[in-house]
Amino acid sequence: MSEKTVRVELDARSYPIHIGSGIWEQYLLPLTVGAEVALMVDDNVAAQPWFAALRTKLTVSAAKFVLLSVVAGEKTKNLSVFSQLCSELARAKISRRGKIIAVGGGVVGDLAGFVAASYLRGIALVQVPTSLLAAVDSSVGGKTGVNLPEGKNLVGAFCQPVAVIIDLDFLQTLPSRELAAGMAEVVKYGIIRDPEFFELVKNGAPRDLSRVIEKSVLIKAGVVANDEREETGLRAMLNFGHTIGHAIEQTTGYGQWLHGEAVSVGMIGAAWLSHRLVGLPLTVTREIYSALVANKLPVTISGLDFARLAPVIAMDKKSTGKSVNWVLCPELGRTTQNNKVPDEMLREAIEICAGRKAI
Ligand code: GLY
Repeated sequence: MSEKTVRVELDARSYPIHIGSGIWEQYLLPLTVGAEVALMVDDNVAAQPWFAALRTKLTVSAAKFVLLSVVAGEKTKNLSVFSQLCSELARAKISRRGKIIAVGGGVVGDLAGFVAASYLRGIALVQVPTSLLAAVDSSVGGKTGVNLPEGKNLVGAFCQPVAVIIDLDFLQTLPSRELAAGMAEVVKYGIIRDPEFFELVKNGAPRDLSRVIEKSVLIKAGVVANDEREETGLRAMLNFGHTIGHAIEQTTGYGQWLHGEAVSVGMIGAAWLSHRLVGLPLTVTREIYSALVANKLPVTISGLDFARLAPVIAMDKKSTGKSVNWVLCPELGRTTQNNKVPDEMLREAIEICAGRKAI
């Protein structure tokens, strides 16, 4: 693949997203020469064959180096681990000039980003995503944070990275479950923003991921550049499927379902609500279902029920006052927001998500 760079245009906080194979040294090392570097990974990343070389080269290039390693998985994204990481930085005497290099999936990126936003009131962050989901979504756009027992991502900060480096070689060894989870966000971009892109990905993940990554980050960069802090309603469209998805993650215990898997089932619920409330044709609702199946994603999770999910959905951080801000899709490529989803309709959507009712 030829190498590509997409820019997130945010005035003084603009940054490049580099995409290509074998590119990490070219873009990462210059950012670390003579710097105070905190490399943050999880134990899966630390076990990768390329990790030793990356660590050694950063150690040589940096003036000061500390490795922050966390246990892999969503359960790690909590305030206690956040606090331990800040203490490790303090003990290593990382100053305001320090840089956190987050090499990993969404959990590492979100946690590292929140540490970067908070430690000494903010130090620089470089995102090096190693999962498809992190590459196409969580490493771009500056949302960082941790989960609370009460809900997903309820504590966090906006912290734009200084660069995102997507080295496709790091994605080569992704387990198929992780790959599928990333495709959930890719399919989402097609649904909310680009019917042609939906056509391209509706039959499954292509062998060469470069095109889907580039297109996904182009869509995300465009949305973030126009509504960085989710204030105008534009960025909220990226939450399609996430209202039910987050509630699934929380009520099933963080980590049982990968974020992308929960979002896949959440998109089934959101597509159904879109059909019932804003006129998404049933044929398209079924096409969305088939696209998620073709991408090897779960479309139902048995045991989901209204009584458990509804109170968690009501806590959703996107709630405005008393009502939840639902992102719905009246037609492929377009979204609308609705804060009046009747309980009976939500109950019906959850029956579908649980597989007790057919679409
Ligand atoms: N993942 C949703 C967003 O970045 O806004």
